[in-house]
Amino acid sequence: IERTLVLVKPDGVARNLAGTILARVEAKGYTLAELKKVTATREQLEAHYAEHEGKPFYEPLVEFMLSGPVVAAIFEGNRVIEGFRAVAGTTDPTTAAPGTIRGDLGRDWGLKVQQNLVHGSDSVESAEREIGIWFA
Ligand code: GTP
Ligand code: MG
Repeated sequence: IERTLVLVKPDGVARNLAGTILARVEAKGYTLAELKKVTATREQLEAHYAEHEGKPFYEPLVEFMLSGPVVAAIFEGNRVIEGFRAVAGTTDPTTAAPGTIRGDLGRDWGLKVQQNLVHGSDSVESAEREIGIWFA
């Protein structure tokens, strides 16, 4: 069965939206397999975001992800990777479609990083790699 790693990022946890966000994913029909609240380490984030190293938003992104606890979850179901990304919406929360998590609950807060509430794996290979980082 397909699995994906979902993170409620520090903005979502700080705004008390973790339950709301997880409920939307469950309501779509995916099964919550694992769940925990954690404060990430820099090492975890450097592994998680290795593909973005060197990009201008990389350091602000890592700092943002260290700014408070995150909620890490594994969801399961057929095509959950693309299904979660559809529920999450596109990367920029200002223009993400209404009806999505980012589109309904997020916006640009004027910072250097996109505070877009959630992360979801983008492929089966990424999902298994990321699950190993957050649920070792
Ligand atoms: P994730 O589910 O978080 O991986 O989002 P994504 O797959 O939609 O985005 P991507 O993997 O391309 O980028 C990871 C994160 O970096 C995004 O969620 C944003 O928080 C941030 N990010 C990506 N692109 C930009 C950008 O062009 N500018 C800024 N400021 N932040 C960005
Ligand atoms: Mg991504």
